[in-house]
Amino acid sequence: MKKSLFIRKSIELLQREEEMEGEHKLKRVLTPVGLVALGIGGIIGAGIFVLTGHAAAEYAGPGIVLSFIFSGLACVFAGLCYAELASMIPIAGSAYTYSYATLGEFIAWIIGWDLILEYLFGASTVAVGWSGYVVSFLRDYGIAIPAYLSTAPLAHDASGWHTTGALVNFPAVFIVALVTTLLVIGIRESARFNNAIVVLKLTVLILFIGFGAYYIAPANWTPFVPPNTGEFGHFGWSGVLRGAGVVFFAYIGFDAVSTAAQEAKNPQRDMPIGILGSLVISTVLYILVSLVLTGIIKYEFLNAPDPIAVGIDAAGAGLLWLKSFVKIGAIAGLSSVILVLLLGQSRVFFSMASDGLLPERFSVVHWKFKTPYKTTITAGVAAMIIAGLFPIGLLGELVSIGTLLAFVIVCVGVMALRYRHPELKRPFKTPLVPLVPVLGALTAFSQMIALPLDTIIRLVVWMAIGFVIYFTYGAKNSKLRM
Ligand code: ALA
Repeated sequence: MKKSLFIRKSIELLQREEEMEGEHKLKRVLTPVGLVALGIGGIIGAGIFVLTGHAAAEYAGPGIVLSFIFSGLACVFAGLCYAELASMIPIAGSAYTYSYATLGEFIAWIIGWDLILEYLFGASTVAVGWSGYVVSFLRDYGIAIPAYLSTAPLAHDASGWHTTGALVNFPAVFIVALVTTLLVIGIRESARFNNAIVVLKLTVLILFIGFGAYYIAPANWTPFVPPNTGEFGHFGWSGVLRGAGVVFFAYIGFDAVSTAAQEAKNPQRDMPIGILGSLVISTVLYILVSLVLTGIIKYEFLNAPDPIAVGIDAAGAGLLWLKSFVKIGAIAGLSSVILVLLLGQSRVFFSMASDGLLPERFSVVHWKFKTPYKTTITAGVAAMIIAGLFPIGLLGELVSIGTLLAFVIVCVGVMALRYRHPELKRPFKTPLVPLVPVLGALTAFSQMIALPLDTIIRLVVWMAIGFVIYFTYGAKNSKLRM
């Protein structure tokens, strides 16, 4: 049993599966630009449009710029490792597939189950954020959606779970349904929708940086790192660190590029471009947006769900023309994040089902649309239920811990594969091995254990459910073992 738990898929087998035709075959349409756009589509969303203000006002002040740099650096270490594996093993399923080849079936199951947590709950979290933005946008135009139809019916605090009196978060369910439909219709259509939104959200952020720069009052930046209040994490350098933990959410999504390897035209060359290109572009934009924002307005005033709009208000009449544009950019931007994360979720699920670790009947591709429609619809319905019922804070932290665990496993995977298979061709090589993977694993692990205990416990419970499914189903139906 011990041996078979760690049974590994050979790279040759992965490559053979890759060349197979038939009803399990996805369509190769994504170009390098399309992949970078997919990454940006999945990265830039609630993190910059919603969370920045809270993190600056409560934890880091203008030092939020440093939080973005720190958090971005940790992602770059992991991104470099993802890029090596994605160029070597260009098959759908991302870190799950890499682990199957490097660390064995059981670890692959752990990471696959963990990625389902990241993408499923990630899409749901952003759908709840989308709902908040849409409700506030419509309110600006005199259209009121009642709270019982636009907030979570369940809440959790120190006293435990309770109901809020709301029925369902309807806008959150609506956007997931819309995106799921698009994903079923086609990868090309989904990529086009994503590309259009990426252009829109990049334009909005660049306009904000370019025009906002004229309204900066350097006095707002002093002190750049406000003194600590005496409590860990409230300003000072510990505040910058806590801010980094909060804005980590803003970077989640670049790894989803690697789940689409099987739909890339030239995955070995283009996967690293997609992963690292989108990560670097987003990092630069985050740094500039947060610099301009905290330069326009004193950080104390930024604790709002739409901080960029608050910054525009503070700049005065000269910038007001940009306000509705920013809100539309945010609403559209959040919907592409939902799209990319749900895409990632359905591809991981598809790969696990193709391997027999989850029911194989899910792994069919639609005869006309060429999309894995069964896994897409299942993921969409699960995300609708989660987004319709739960509050945003609880979902967001679970997503972060799930992503960090995936980073740790991927960084270890790169080192393991370099040791076990030094001879394999690596179109992209992570620089400075083992330094970069070790730093990647350590920074991710330290951010994991800094999260609240409740979140760690929820991760353990999710994993325990995964173990039960693996030992009662996956291990018995694994195609590789047969
Ligand atoms: N990075 C994504 C966002 O900020 C999840 O919305």
